Amino acid sequence: MPTTTGMKGGGYYDANSRVQRLTSEALIPWMEEAITDLPEPSPDQQSWNFLDIGTSEGANSINTMNHLIEFVRRKSELPVWALFDDLPTNDFNQMFLNLFPKSAPALSGTAVYSAAIGGSAFGRLVPPKTLHLATTYNAIGFYESKPSATLPNFVIPMIPNPNAPREGVHVSPSELIPFQKQSYQDLYQFYAARAQELVPGGKLLVQVYGKTETQSTGHGIMDVLSDAFLDFVEEDILPRSFYENFIFPAYYRDLDELTAPLQNESELSTAYRIEHTQAYDTRAPFDDDFASTGDRKTWAQSYTSFLRAFTEPVVAEALPDELIEKQLVDKIYQRIEQLLAENPERYEFHFISIAALLTRL
Ligand SMILES: C[S@@+](CC[C@H](N)C(=O)[O-])C[C@H]1O[C@@H](n2cnc3c(N)ncnc32)[C@H](O)[C@@H]1O
Repeated sequence: MPTTTGMKGGGYYDANSRVQRLTSEALIPWMEEAITDLPEPSPDQQSWNFLDIGTSEGANSINTMNHLIEFVRRKSELPVWALFDDLPTNDFNQMFLNLFPKSAPALSGTAVYSAAIGGSAFGRLVPPKTLHLATTYNAIGFYESKPSATLPNFVIPMIPNPNAPREGVHVSPSELIPFQKQSYQDLYQFYAARAQELVPGGKLLVQVYGKTETQSTGHGIMDVLSDAFLDFVEEDILPRSFYENFIFPAYYRDLDELTAPLQNESELSTAYRIEHTQAYDTRAPFDDDFASTGDRKTWAQSYTSFLRAFTEPVVAEALPDELIEKQLVDKIYQRIEQLLAENPERYEFHFISIAALLTRL
């Protein structure tokens, strides 16, 4: 069973994912290079087939797809299939509304056809050897299935941020091992599925939230989620067992972990050539605004909305029904906003991306 039902829908994710858009736009030069290098589709194909995986409601995905279309139109007038995948529970209604707003189709250019695919990134999504380019942004850090290992003293498989210590919050390196293994296995499945789907010479552009030696995308966001939960445990609003059993089902990899299956698995090392790898830090627009205005209330609101867009479905799913009825979801995010406004330094955020551009051999 997938670990999330998707992002918070009805346009909420689109409205609160400006930083995610910047992380994908940072890779426009790789997109251009990938398209320039693509071999012509074989005569029996008659189209360019591009797939973005983990699109959510689509605004960011359509934005990057438009760049790909612009680049491919410099070399070819062949029709384009723009394919968008996410989990079946994703808000695809919003995706189609985004694709076809009242004014004009959101995908620019002529002979561009779009379709949505419901299915997991870690399994097969299209027939063999049909894709010229597959992309994924900010998606494949989510686990394929809920980890069976537990972490009673934190909310996500990572060493907690040393800059935001709290009594009782800790994770040991050995506790992380089963989570690291599961994350490796997921990534292996992801690369293996794409190897089947890409044509020879096809490209795979992978970007996901991750970590470096000193910083993790989880710093700040997971600290404040954990602090809000623990406050509610201490106030007897949440049972301690909720905190002990809760795991946000994502893993922040470093660059070595992103490429490890490509190097260790012979079936993958012969399937792909690694063209580029990169780790980079993207500054969130809410941090830019805060730096210029000093308005911590507005900063805390925007930070909370950004966090809520991708965590709420998981938090709501984990809460017992009787607590949902007491509007606990809203109260958790209100507490998060309050904690942020009171102590911005504790929850400093860095969006660390890890990325790779691969060629199918
Ligand atoms: C943070 S959003 C990223 C959306 C968009 N790519 C962006 O960069 O703004 C992550 C998306 O990955 C999707 N996702 C999570 N697990 C997935 C899986 N196993 N297969 C496909 N999509 C998945 C979620 O449903 C969600 O829509």
